[in-house]
Amino acid sequence: MLIKVKKQSDLSENDVTPERLFKARRKFLNIGAASITGAALSGIAGGIFASPTPTKAAGAQLGTTKWAGSTDETPTDFESITTYNNFYEFGTSKEAPRFNAEGFVTSPWTVEVSGLAKNTGTFDVWDLIDKNKLEERIYRHRCVETWSMVVPWVGIPLADIVKRLEPQTSAKYIAFKTLHDPERMPGQERAVLQWPYVEGLRLDEAMNPLALLVVGVYGQELPPQNGAPIRLVVPWKYGFKGIKSIVKIEFSENEPPTSWNISAPGEYGFYANVNPNVSHPRWSQAKERRIGEFLKRKTLMFNGYSDEVASLYSNMDLEKYF
Ligand code: MTE
Repeated sequence: MLIKVKKQSDLSENDVTPERLFKARRKFLNIGAASITGAALSGIAGGIFASPTPTKAAGAQLGTTKWAGSTDETPTDFESITTYNNFYEFGTSKEAPRFNAEGFVTSPWTVEVSGLAKNTGTFDVWDLIDKNKLEERIYRHRCVETWSMVVPWVGIPLADIVKRLEPQTSAKYIAFKTLHDPERMPGQERAVLQWPYVEGLRLDEAMNPLALLVVGVYGQELPPQNGAPIRLVVPWKYGFKGIKSIVKIEFSENEPPTSWNISAPGEYGFYANVNPNVSHPRWSQAKERRIGEFLKRKTLMFNGYSDEVASLYSNMDLEKYF
């Protein structure tokens, strides 16, 4: 494809970068851009991540009740969870988001609800999420790139919110959208993905008790690099379904587009269920490397949540609907 390259003399006033954006971009370039690789989640998991810096408090403490279904596997340390991230709006390396998202303002924050539901409108995030009902749930977290973690998330079942919003019977899907604001998310200055980041679930998946709207980690509000103030966590699916910094929820009759599927339809499907038997076209999904561990471990079907979710897909060919 040919791209017309402007000469210096062709620049209009609109091309002059505002100071704030220039500063944000310069900060972004300095810290994160060296490792930009284009729009492909890589198959190479990063090196074992052990930072010498002490654990910092990320945000305000949240009151939680402990969910009985948590895994008893050892949670990954706070430092790794908050410094080894995928958040392309803040850079494409694992290390960039924590620097580039520093100072990202997430309060006030509203979420627009639209489409086929009774209770549509624009809600303050803390009207949507009742702070008195937060649960701590320790889930396995498996990235399509083959690394994994165990994360003590804080959130509310997505099903509770969906029920409050009262979707119409014609609604079959729920779609989510991340903020689109290149001034605040400097990674959106580059076309590594089509912005904003979008994701979606079938409504019966969204109603599964494991699907979680997350506002915290390790008992405190999410740091920006993990998707503050509100993100999705779907523990039986690859991590890219867990869309961060959500500003819009929409109920629809038809399957909504999803970012990684738009970017590479042959590599990333709508369903993205963790499945050790279906390889990514460029690498096997049979094993994973738990951050903090040396040897690889076997990946479990539906990330170990088969009892809870397998029935959702009983009549489906999981090779086709990957
Ligand atoms: N959401 C947005 N908006 N942008 C992203 O780049 N990356 C996804 C997902 N949500 C991403 C996103 C991917 S690929 C993964 S693995 C998880 O976020 C990573 O979440 P974590 O950084 O909290 O581990």
